[in-house]
Amino acid sequence: MAFPVDFLWGGATSNVQYEGGFGEGGRGLSTHDFETAGSKEQGRQITLICADGNRSSVGIRESFPDKAEAEIFEDCYYPSHRAVDFYHFYKEDIRLCAEMGFRIFRFSICWSRIFPNGEGEPNEEGLLFYDHVLDELERYHIEPLITICHDDMPNELARRYDGWSSRHVIELYVNYAVLLMERYCNRCRYWLTFNEINLISGYAQIGTHKQDYQTIYQAKHHMMLASAKAVAEGHRINPDFKIGTMYAMSAYYPADSHPLNVEACYRTRRESLFFSDIMLRGYYPNYSEILLADKGIHLDIREEDREVLRQGVLDYMAISYYRSSIISTESHFRIMKIIGGEPNPCLRKTPWDWTIDPVGLRTTLNELYDRYQKSVFVVENGLGAEDVPDENMEIQDDYRIDYLRQHLQELKKAVETDHVPVLGYTMWGCIDQVSLSTGEMKKRYGFVYVDMDDEGQGSCKRYRKKSFDWYREIIRTNGESINERSMENGL
Ligand code: BG6
Repeated sequence: MAFPVDFLWGGATSNVQYEGGFGEGGRGLSTHDFETAGSKEQGRQITLICADGNRSSVGIRESFPDKAEAEIFEDCYYPSHRAVDFYHFYKEDIRLCAEMGFRIFRFSICWSRIFPNGEGEPNEEGLLFYDHVLDELERYHIEPLITICHDDMPNELARRYDGWSSRHVIELYVNYAVLLMERYCNRCRYWLTFNEINLISGYAQIGTHKQDYQTIYQAKHHMMLASAKAVAEGHRINPDFKIGTMYAMSAYYPADSHPLNVEACYRTRRESLFFSDIMLRGYYPNYSEILLADKGIHLDIREEDREVLRQGVLDYMAISYYRSSIISTESHFRIMKIIGGEPNPCLRKTPWDWTIDPVGLRTTLNELYDRYQKSVFVVENGLGAEDVPDENMEIQDDYRIDYLRQHLQELKKAVETDHVPVLGYTMWGCIDQVSLSTGEMKKRYGFVYVDMDDEGQGSCKRYRKKSFDWYREIIRTNGESINERSMENGL
């Protein structure tokens, strides 16, 4: 048998894209609440109120909204406000996950639901919502995998402290993380301190005014300290906790065999592993100086910070894996985000132009285990595609089955043949949710279709897609049915 009997099959979600419940149960404003719906071509916008009181939309916010919040939300559509309404549908959603046989369900807690302003007293009503979510999961024997912070923060922390650029936010985060870990001490084993910490993030993720390298890397340093402190506290609260952080991963290939392109590819790879190198080993690596100097960054790293990082090494590495990238000397300097790069003529692409590279998943899993010798958890993988229901609301998503099967086949080889210890696999967006990068609803990932469109119109009713039964069978057979082909229909 390829997969261990306790392999954690499941699905993954994030509050920003899934939960909704805006303004309900005492939830405070989150940084994502200012993001409008977007498109593949334009991405998303952040609405701001300028100093002169006029409203404008920009990619990067330059001034804090200092007007009454109601004014900000008047005319645009902001998908995070309702998302797909897990807040009211959680019982039904968890029942559907149980029907598929999930052993684990990844979700994130909305920080501003627990600390509406980021500090002060916690909001008991917010905590009660997550208590109920855990009750439902327990009812079906599904383990939770909790992401403490999935790319969001209370907007008040961005407004008051400029988000993660402030050291003060470290203590506020630790306070929040400890509250959750103590409350769920015996109810949750697997934790993630942050989502995709290795991406060059924007306002919604890190809450900073400025988006230059100096600001972003200093903010990331603070996030790594916060994570390390939460890890140390978590192990004190329950030594059996398994605490990780999630990294955006893709395979990288040099554009050709020119040594300079190979070298650029190597450097880009190392840059994408910079944060995991620190957090899985407990110290800044030898190449930090050159990496930071190349970007004109001077980090404020204090002596005590080094001890904090040493004390808070992660237990496992969690990754998202969607695609691979081609790197040349040119693209190395061009890419701001760690994933992306140039198109690969050997590979097909998704409708949203992400390359489809299952083999790269196996390579990546091997590479990461070779490097860190720690278990890996694939907490995101999946296909964003447009699903069109027929008149009976049935969705024949063979293309999704095809994508997932190929990735799971490679995952199986990594486990069975290469002996990489993989803890589990949580398919991204198991119930359709709003796309993070584009704000579109039509970019769907789920086994379950949610009746909601790009303008936020729809009943939110849930419908099982064809892939629902397929995944149920994968879990039922603990991965033995992966090689069975019931259809031939690629993208
Ligand atoms: C990961 C994020 O980057 O990719 C998720 O952790 C996101 O939040 C996922 O949804 C897929 O990206 P997108 O833009 O297609 O939603």
